[in-house]
Amino acid sequence: MAEPSKHLLLVEDEAPLREAVAEQLADRGFSVQQADSGEAAVARLAEFAFDIIVTDLRLPGIDGSDVVEAAVGRYPDIIAIVVTGYGTVKDAVEAIKRGASDFVNKPFQIDELLHALESAIEQRRLKSENAYLRAQLEDRYRFEGVVGKGRAMSRVFQLLETVAPTNSTILITGETGTGKEVVARAIHHNSPRRMNRFVALNCAAIPETLLEAELFGHVRGAFTGAVGNRQGRLEQAHKGTLLLDEVGNMSVALQTKLLRVLQEREFERIGDSHTTKVDVRIIAATNSDLARLVADGQFREDLFYRLNVIPVELPPLRERKEDIPLLVQHFLDKLRVEGIGAGQARVPLTVAQDAMRRLMAYAWPGNVRQLENAVERAVAISAGRPQLDVADLPIEIQQAQEPVLPSTVALPDEGLDLPSFIAHLERELIQRSLERTGGNKGQAAKLLCLKRTTLVEKLKRIEKQPLI
Ligand SMILES: Nc1ncnc2c1ncn2[C@@H]1O[C@H](COP(=O)(O)OP(=O)(O)OP(=O)(O)O)[C@@H](O)[C@H]1O
Ligand SMILES: [Mg+2]
Repeated sequence: MAEPSKHLLLVEDEAPLREAVAEQLADRGFSVQQADSGEAAVARLAEFAFDIIVTDLRLPGIDGSDVVEAAVGRYPDIIAIVVTGYGTVKDAVEAIKRGASDFVNKPFQIDELLHALESAIEQRRLKSENAYLRAQLEDRYRFEGVVGKGRAMSRVFQLLETVAPTNSTILITGETGTGKEVVARAIHHNSPRRMNRFVALNCAAIPETLLEAELFGHVRGAFTGAVGNRQGRLEQAHKGTLLLDEVGNMSVALQTKLLRVLQEREFERIGDSHTTKVDVRIIAATNSDLARLVADGQFREDLFYRLNVIPVELPPLRERKEDIPLLVQHFLDKLRVEGIGAGQARVPLTVAQDAMRRLMAYAWPGNVRQLENAVERAVAISAGRPQLDVADLPIEIQQAQEPVLPSTVALPDEGLDLPSFIAHLERELIQRSLERTGGNKGQAAKLLCLKRTTLVEKLKRIEKQPLI
């Protein structure tokens, strides 16, 4: 398909030259309009959104630089080319500072002008393509604050992208510290409800007797101490999102009431004879195995199914170690921003490779929260050094070891073929490092203390090798 013609405004006070250039540009497919002064050009710009402006620099009245500034001010994406009659680079530089893309010296061959135009158009195209890609990238990572790019988290992001904009109930499961709350917040912020409140209720942190009042609110005199009317979290979350955290800790009696909310979106404040209707999206989170609680009769099966409409499972950190470097960087950045605000000492910019290896070797029973704490502590200990070292890490992490291969290898009676044994070991370790990094060769190479190019070479060789 032919490109739509570009609208070009040509500004030149010498009529014969202007008309000659206009004609040649029109021959090359530009849709050309002419202006014989800076004032006329500014007036035309006000009437029409040109793609390109070509202007003489020296004009009676408003000069070419002013015209460029007016054009760019009005249309930031316009391509402006200036024509300078005096060969003074200084004027052209001034015009470029004010937004021109390029300049040509007078007298010029039409090809010179065309060349300048073509390269400016190409640059503009690349720039907008880049902006498009960046927007796409941002879109891909719009679950702001939730870091992760390995296979495990990418799958979670994909699911979140699909379900966040809906009203579906979501059940987030995962060990402690895997990010259930951050994910719940991210879902809310990526839903049409984002303008309204995100309310969290931790069912494990509130004594059973108070939990019901906390959830549903109460009217005055409903129970001893209920001095006034009080909104519950459900009402607070009206038109927004309610996170029921540690939902597995809810008593069976309360579970029954919650079930009604999920089915009817209505409830009564404690002591109230009126029914209150709410429009709330519910996200539940738990680190216990609800299915097992159901089997044990501690959790209502029907409630489980109502909550588990869309299950989101957050894998433990030890199963997504490839995200550790990214998370560490994220926490360092976070501390830097907070530290700058508080006028505190420098936060290290990087982590020594050896320290990173230990961080990746550790099993992280407390998951991302534990990692965040470890980074915070290490930063405090690093005392303003630009790099975090092994010694800055908590002792149990310093001691973390890659699950090592057997330290002794038995030599069979019949002996072995050493070269092929070593090749086998190498292949094994390379495969494991690739598995661990979700196929990222750069990171896999780092794990093995190899250059990326070396790893790639080895991989090529391995592919050719027969399987032992
Ligand atoms: N993917 C992630 N990206 C960035 N920060 C994260 C991520 N996951 C967790 N965190 C951080 O780790 C900490 C713990 O996360 P969060 O409170 O969401 O965990 P949780 O699963 O709700 O834990 P618990 O079960 O103990 O309540 C928070 O400070 C959170 O910001
Ligand atoms: Mg939590």
